[in-house]
Amino acid sequence: MDRFIIEGGARLKGTVELSGAKNAALPILAATLLADSKSVIKNVPPLRDVYTMLRIMRVLGVKVSMEDNVVIVEPRGYSNYTAPYKLVSTMRASVCVLGPVLAKLKLAEVSMPGGCVIGPRPIDLHIKGLSAIGADIKIEHGYIVASAKQLKGARVYLGGNFGSSVLATANLMMAATLAKGKTVIESAACEPEVCDLAKFLIKMGAKIKGHGTPVVEIEGVKSLHGAEYTIIDDRIEAGTFMIASAITGGDIVIKGANVEHIGAVIDKLQCAGLKITDTKEGLRVKTIRSLRPVDVTTLPYPGFPTDMQAQMMALMSITKGISVITEKVYPERYMHVSELARMGGQVMLEGPSAIIKGVPRLSGAPVMASDLRASAALILAGLVAKGKTEVSRIYHLDRGYYNIEEKLEKLGARIKREKED
Ligand code: UD1
Repeated sequence: MDRFIIEGGARLKGTVELSGAKNAALPILAATLLADSKSVIKNVPPLRDVYTMLRIMRVLGVKVSMEDNVVIVEPRGYSNYTAPYKLVSTMRASVCVLGPVLAKLKLAEVSMPGGCVIGPRPIDLHIKGLSAIGADIKIEHGYIVASAKQLKGARVYLGGNFGSSVLATANLMMAATLAKGKTVIESAACEPEVCDLAKFLIKMGAKIKGHGTPVVEIEGVKSLHGAEYTIIDDRIEAGTFMIASAITGGDIVIKGANVEHIGAVIDKLQCAGLKITDTKEGLRVKTIRSLRPVDVTTLPYPGFPTDMQAQMMALMSITKGISVITEKVYPERYMHVSELARMGGQVMLEGPSAIIKGVPRLSGAPVMASDLRASAALILAGLVAKGKTEVSRIYHLDRGYYNIEEKLEKLGARIKREKED
């Protein structure tokens, strides 16, 4: 197992290039399972979660290859409908093969994804959506078993207690492309990754309207063909680098950042006092004054993303004053709080809210990554902490950030990867 050693205090400067969005790549790779012919997907980030998805596809009997961020999928003739526990248990997003395999093979078995350190992650909305269009769904021996002779379009309200669901929307949208008649999803997720999936499905021959809004309409078609598609850049990686610049008092340009995808993050960082400009070269994020505390509530898109909550907390930890973060998507997603405390951070949890008292400086310490975004927050804290920070268990980070240490090093950070004993 690897760890990062970070020597804090370097101001970041220069240009960084984003990788493709993992959260767009995973459902789009799953969507290729709906086609009768080859797909070519470009800008796929070479990350652990992507490799897990490719392994699941191979287990299903699909031919897949990946070279230079391009994945070629040849789905013709696959007939295995089971996504096994040993793979699904390592990545919850595997659940997004349920919709496409069901639609294509009329039967799908996907292992129940199981627990998660960021809090409970139910799948009731996935089941609700697919049942509404005619799937018969049972939970048997730890597997979700879905079958349907013929999926039939329906009107489905897909909002849950925590708002819309990204992957439940993706699952239903994919299955509905091959259903008979029209499906209307109300309270659909509007995330850019859902939009990217819809655009890919349309290129495959699907009839979809309203993607990117809470009401999505899908008119079923008889079959879909493969397509060539380039995945959007990663908005969470963009946000993470924005905070890397802010926390180190830096001045960086982020190539590939789409301002339409990260409006809520830009807004909060501007309120905190950063100068953010959309330039020809990319998004420039510059610190021009001492930062002010801001209050943040995470919400489904276009609200402030839960996947940026931990990173924002790292920034607020060294921002003079009191700020409040309220987590409305995963109210228990606060595993990073105790690790930040080891570095001198002062955060008090009060239900789904975190009250952060900014301290003048954090101090480097050995800390442990607990999940993907928490790991990013600890690295950000390490960039500004006095002395040496050791972040262990960074395999979490390798699930979602491609080459983060090289990218940060190029910007001037003192960070290196070491093998853990
Ligand atoms: C996706 C992202 C993840 C991000 C999350 C929220 C991928 C691969 N992952 O995960 O990085 O943190 O969106 O933006 O795209 N919920 C239910 N019932 C369900 C499904 C979800 O109640 O059946 C709840 C969840 O517990 C959570 C909220 O809905 O409180 C949003 O979760 P959801 O959007 O489904 O997350 P994912 O799609 O799994």
